[in-house]
Amino acid sequence: MKVNILSGALGAEVSDFNLNSVTQENFEKLNALLLEHKVVFFRDQNISSKELMFLGSLFGPVEEHAYVRGLDDFPQITRIIKAADEKNQWGEGWHSDVSYDVTPCKTIILRSIKIPPIGGDTVFSNMELAWETLDEDIKKIIVDKNALHTSNGSNFFVDDFSEMESNGKIGEKYSNEHPIVRTHPETGKKILYVNPTYTKKIMGLSKKESDNLLERIFRHQEKLDLSCRFKWTENAVAILDNRCTQHYAIADFYPGRGLGHERVMDRIAIVGDQPY
Ligand SMILES: [Fe+2]
Repeated sequence: MKVNILSGALGAEVSDFNLNSVTQENFEKLNALLLEHKVVFFRDQNISSKELMFLGSLFGPVEEHAYVRGLDDFPQITRIIKAADEKNQWGEGWHSDVSYDVTPCKTIILRSIKIPPIGGDTVFSNMELAWETLDEDIKKIIVDKNALHTSNGSNFFVDDFSEMESNGKIGEKYSNEHPIVRTHPETGKKILYVNPTYTKKIMGLSKKESDNLLERIFRHQEKLDLSCRFKWTENAVAILDNRCTQHYAIADFYPGRGLGHERVMDRIAIVGDQPY
């Protein structure tokens, strides 16, 4: 197994490792790598949907998405199809997945099926480092506060629902409060747990105070110094720790902006804990 570190902030590309035959011993190495690097990447993985589900199950129970229907044979696998003419792109903008859930998923595994020849990279960002490097005056205000996270609802995708169907919950929104500074259940590290896509308000502050402070925090979180960038190839797999990272799927391969290609990924997510 070879590990190539992608940036000083997070991320590692692992080679000589087959994800379709992970043993318990291998899994412990894999999980240790994930905890250390927060997102790990593997190329040229010949992994079936069944093997993908097995890999996910080593991390814990695999969940179904709150409002997006999965594949017929594997309901926990969400096929993310970004059509060439789609209006609203899922995953464009910084976020951690489903932070509006009571127990947001802890791990996400992505498998690339179809990748445009140019563009469509994903950027990942380290939210432990974001907490460590945040201004002390902001830390003092937010350290014991909660924030409200709300989903955009599946209406967001309604312009192109032919491929990504909801399970009858169109428009439904999900909201929950979580601590702004959460603790990683496996490492004990502090994590800055707000994101510009789903975090709407800091509880206990006026709307104006909350808006101003969130804006400052979001500007800090989006610093490229906290990030790594992955250029996809087909049959690559990314495993990411959704508790301590955010990601941003760059939509730079569309007709209005460029080349009109589509991008297809499969996603599974592993049940997480309630943030504390
Ligand atoms: Fe995402």
